Amino acid sequence: MLSRIAVLVSGGGTNLEHLLLAQEAGRIPHGKIVLTVSDNPGAYALKRAENHGIPGVCVPKKGVPQAEFEAALSKELAACRADMVILAGFLAILSPEFVRQWPDRILNIHPSLIPSFCGKGYYGLKVHEAALTRGVKVTGATVHFVNEIPDGGRILLQKAVDILPGDTPEVLQRRVMEQAEWVLLPQAAELVAAQIAKEKERVQ
Ligand code: GRF
Repeated sequence: MLSRIAVLVSGGGTNLEHLLLAQEAGRIPHGKIVLTVSDNPGAYALKRAENHGIPGVCVPKKGVPQAEFEAALSKELAACRADMVILAGFLAILSPEFVRQWPDRILNIHPSLIPSFCGKGYYGLKVHEAALTRGVKVTGATVHFVNEIPDGGRILLQKAVDILPGDTPEVLQRRVMEQAEWVLLPQAAELVAAQIAKEKERVQ
């Protein structure tokens, strides 16, 4: 039985693209991407979903109270009967009340080796700027669960990427995506999808 995957996005959606390509190449054999949700109506990620024939919806966040936003999100996830959620460049914050509904079922990708360069203010290029300013020689990407504390961000997969002389934040961001993010996220999706599929079969 396939695990039904919803992918949450806010922007360009290159991670979504690589999930969709992995699915089409048979690299997520226990999962099926059934929905893309964006909190931003202008996200190019929605166009990518459409190009791959995957339904995409916008659940707007701007100016909407958190509880209302999360109720609308929950409604979409229920409607597509999602078993798991992947945050692929999703910038909206999810409350502990929301996260509690999905124990070990929400994955996030972050473009550094957690616990370095993560937490408040570390998103997008800022993560890579901070790594270059600090002078670290190795960075990478991390896929982690989004759970309630104490297990808040239990790490599932990590991959290291070298920092090279002359790197700019943009050059480094691209290398981290190519060498780590786009490789790790489909692998993580399959790991969790396989686990859920096993559990679903047990309760059948
Ligand atoms: C990626 O660097 C991801 O790790 C971070 O946001 C970026 C999203 O890029 N959380 P994209 O929208 O998948 O192209």
